[in-house]
Amino acid sequence: MVKAVVLGAAGGIGQPLSLLLKNNPSVTELSLYDIVNTPGVAADLSHISTPAKVVGYLPPDDGLKKALTGADIVVIPAGVPRKPGMTRDDLFKINAGIVRDLATGIATTAPKAFVLVISNPVNSTVPIVVEVFKKHGVFDPKRIFGVTTLDVVRASTFVAEVHGDLGKAPTVVVPVIGGHSGIVPLLSQSSHPLPSGFAQESLEALTYRIQFGGDEVVKAKDGAGSATLSMAYAGVEFTNKIIRAVKGEKGIVAPSFVHLSADKNGGEALKKEIGRDLDYFSAPIELGPEGVVAIKSLGKVTDYEAGLIKTAVPELAINIEKGVSFIDSSK
Ligand code: NAI
Repeated sequence: MVKAVVLGAAGGIGQPLSLLLKNNPSVTELSLYDIVNTPGVAADLSHISTPAKVVGYLPPDDGLKKALTGADIVVIPAGVPRKPGMTRDDLFKINAGIVRDLATGIATTAPKAFVLVISNPVNSTVPIVVEVFKKHGVFDPKRIFGVTTLDVVRASTFVAEVHGDLGKAPTVVVPVIGGHSGIVPLLSQSSHPLPSGFAQESLEALTYRIQFGGDEVVKAKDGAGSATLSMAYAGVEFTNKIIRAVKGEKGIVAPSFVHLSADKNGGEALKKEIGRDLDYFSAPIELGPEGVVAIKSLGKVTDYEAGLIKTAVPELAINIEKGVSFIDSSK
């Protein structure tokens, strides 16, 4: 029995994400919350012949509380998306307050739920959720995740394209680390190595495409938003991994942006590898029934990748601090 809740369920990501969750037979209850349109989305999805009972909630009559009661997993794609020329950080002003209020609802109603944050800027919204949970005395670093899976999905697809065989895309695994902005694909560790003789120039172009794939979509949508369908796919990929781990499947590993105290050794080894005492980082994580089991070492990286990490870390530190101080200043 799994109750999944989507906060921001009527949006560009929220709707296809809810559809894909409804398609997972392990989900028995699906609660959809948004400030608009959830009764319609829920009625529509409720006709699909899969086990989940779907209910839509709006803010009146304690809708958020009702949506969250008994939640096992809460996925948050609520908030505004980018328009051309915007960075993820430009969204902070609006999305920080939205995520803070939703996190308060989770901390007070379903503090044991796994929380998966999609709303951007992820590098700052995850610290916001964590600070809200700390404030309510319910913080468990093993259960709060920034969803960076779209970067992983893009890496698999683009590497398969380099091989000229999209059929390989589902099985290509590339560790993508850093943050969501400050994205560092470790292409030297790809399960499907790049062709021998792959030029440094091509490697840099491929790395850039994985880092800024989001911009391709923002540009193509021309003012109508950012990635929604691929994000919904990626969000459900990660959600389903958590569900499988909770059900006892072993050895599930996926990158996610987490508080490093989630690691059994406090992330000390990783901090040494990145050369800075950051509180958060995205790295491959082993998942278990209680959430994070261990944060994996980055392993052997090339000089080029080490340089990318070095560039990403100061930016990450600023993003993280911005999230933390947003809640500190509203105490
Ligand atoms: P959208 O505008 O289509 O949908 C957002 C939904 O959030 C809307 O239905 C809106 O009514 C709802 N919402 C706003 N305030 C709310 C509140 N207080 N409570 C509940 N719901 C609320 O936007 P879209 O395209 O679905 O993007 C959502 C977020 O996901 C954006 O912040 C975007 O930047 C982010 N995103 C993250 C990615 C990632 O890789 N982590 C990739 C792509 C987008």
